[in-house]
Amino acid sequence: MKAIIAAGGSGTRLRPLTFSSNKHLLPLANKPLLLYPIEAISETGIKEVGIIVNETRPAVEALLGSGGKWGLNLTYIEQAEPLGLAHVVLMAQAFLAGEPFVYHLGDNIFSQGIKEPFKTFEKEQPDALLTLVEHEENWRLGVPYFDEAGNLMKVVEKPEKPPNKYGVPGLYFFNHHVFEAFTGADKIKPSARGELEITDLYTYLLDHHYRVLTAKVPGRWLDPGKFTDMLEANTFLLQEKLAATVEGEVDQASILSGKVAIGKGTRIVNSRIIGPTAIAGDCLIEDAEVGPNVAIDTHCKLETVTIKNSILMQDATLIDLKRPLVDSMVGKNTEIWEENQANVSLFIGDHCRVRLT
Ligand code: DAU
Repeated sequence: MKAIIAAGGSGTRLRPLTFSSNKHLLPLANKPLLLYPIEAISETGIKEVGIIVNETRPAVEALLGSGGKWGLNLTYIEQAEPLGLAHVVLMAQAFLAGEPFVYHLGDNIFSQGIKEPFKTFEKEQPDALLTLVEHEENWRLGVPYFDEAGNLMKVVEKPEKPPNKYGVPGLYFFNHHVFEAFTGADKIKPSARGELEITDLYTYLLDHHYRVLTAKVPGRWLDPGKFTDMLEANTFLLQEKLAATVEGEVDQASILSGKVAIGKGTRIVNSRIIGPTAIAGDCLIEDAEVGPNVAIDTHCKLETVTIKNSILMQDATLIDLKRPLVDSMVGKNTEIWEENQANVSLFIGDHCRVRLT
């Protein structure tokens, strides 16, 4: 069995951060998003993994390399345009070479991994397995439609009025029959949004009487597609997965409370750090109150700042903020400082959001 991970797409909902970064490389709890699916697949024992990438391939390759660090052998597959999640499958056809496969979206996180549905697929050997979650906003997902006897009839992408509470997360299982959906008179066609939809692959297989099973995915499903989802996912991962470790220096005047991780080379001076909070290596935190639910990446500098529920990316500098910084994402190499409260002076790019509350 093989695996593919979609790490292309355009990431428009996370602009401006995605102008300079592939969405899948943005950090959650100080770890690039894409490493969560990589680890989940590695845990299944699958070795051969295809990563679908766009023009940001060099940055993805710089992070993952050949995959050896996770016991994987990675193949990079380029998708020139984001033509849909089913198009990703088509792009991976040569790599998959007729083997059954698991397909994990590169921006989805399953808190308990994917071993359980993986085992069901391996044991039952259906032609496809559709994973399901219960979701209040399933109108923004693929939704399964069942008949009165509970048989799966079709899967519809983002229906206006879903008939049930189920949604399809970014985890799919197929065997070679899925490629029949791309040939012949009744092959799948681009949807109204111009994409080859993953949901249409399932409906095609059902229409052609292939055996499609469903499986609920255990645990929490995170789908950090937009800014607020990123913060929510960051908080969840810090609360659930963070291991408290102090490798840096904490001076006598500082207080750590709750689950706190402090990386090597980081200095905490006269500050209060409230967990769950992760501060990566080589940072300076001075006269500050940090946390809860804060992830600070490497080489950040904070002086006289209060910060909560936020993500700081590498090399961010925050100085003398008179008001607490809350619910924020701050990109790499960004500086924020407050000289006086009379004026606001900005040097700021497209699609930024500034809320002075
Ligand atoms: O998150 C679950 C949902 O993902 C499912 O319920 C939907 O059925 C499915 O269509 C998908 O919906 P989205 O509209 O949220 O997908 P999005 O365009 O955000 O793309 C998901 C991931 O796939 C993201 O990591 C980018 C990547 N991607 C996307 C497209 C369209 C590619 O690598 N190539 C593509 O062509």
